[in-house]
Amino acid sequence: MKRTVEEHAERFSEKAAEYDDSNSDEYRACADLVVSYADPGPDDVVADLGAGTGAIALALAPGARRVLARDISEGMMEEGRRKASDARITNVEFAYGEFREPNLTDAVDIVTSNFALHHLSDEEKREAIHAMAATGARRIVLGDVMFFGEPDPTEPFYNPDVDDPATVGTLVEAFTDVGFAVTVAERVHDQVGVLVAVRIGSGDDVPGAE
Ligand SMILES: C[S@@+](CC[C@H](N)C(=O)[O-])C[C@H]1O[C@@H](n2cnc3c(N)ncnc32)[C@H](O)[C@@H]1O
Repeated sequence: MKRTVEEHAERFSEKAAEYDDSNSDEYRACADLVVSYADPGPDDVVADLGAGTGAIALALAPGARRVLARDISEGMMEEGRRKASDARITNVEFAYGEFREPNLTDAVDIVTSNFALHHLSDEEKREAIHAMAATGARRIVLGDVMFFGEPDPTEPFYNPDVDDPATVGTLVEAFTDVGFAVTVAERVHDQVGVLVAVRIGSGDDVPGAE
């Protein structure tokens, strides 16, 4: 990580109030894909990691049993709690959780994460993906800044001072190493994409797959 967890948390808490108004078309396309591939059923518990103000968690809540939204920024989660209350959504729980120690006590069926994992170094991402697999989830849906082609720091999707995106290959390898098969790799932009990883042998049907 190019900043400590505490520095990232502070950075996001400072911009929490404006965060929802500051997102790009590619971010929105990525978030829509994460929601559509996550596709929880009424009995499913979803863990949304790096949940921020709840873009993914709140969109999934109506279709899921519970959504456990985890983040390191109290300011971002406070916005999320306010939005949940305004929308009368009662099955989303926002609580502190770091990617590598997500603070989950319940069994989890599906893990989601959108536009957050790129704050970690590649080694830390591997640890985070290990922690996602350790939840017992059958499916992990990761939307993020990721390199399909050459890294280009002049693109608006990441700031090399604070962000550390991985190549798609590095992420696929990390999922494979923890017993998951990446069944979908959707490119939104050369530097933004969504991966769907399913636990091998789970017999899970991947939404959207033929
Ligand atoms: C760009 S926001 C994305 C929020 C949300 N997922 C969305 O799609 O709008 C990134 C979020 O990741 C969180 N974050 C950064 N580093 C983290 C870490 N190590 N563990 C958990 N969350 C982290 C930040 O606090 C922030 O809320």
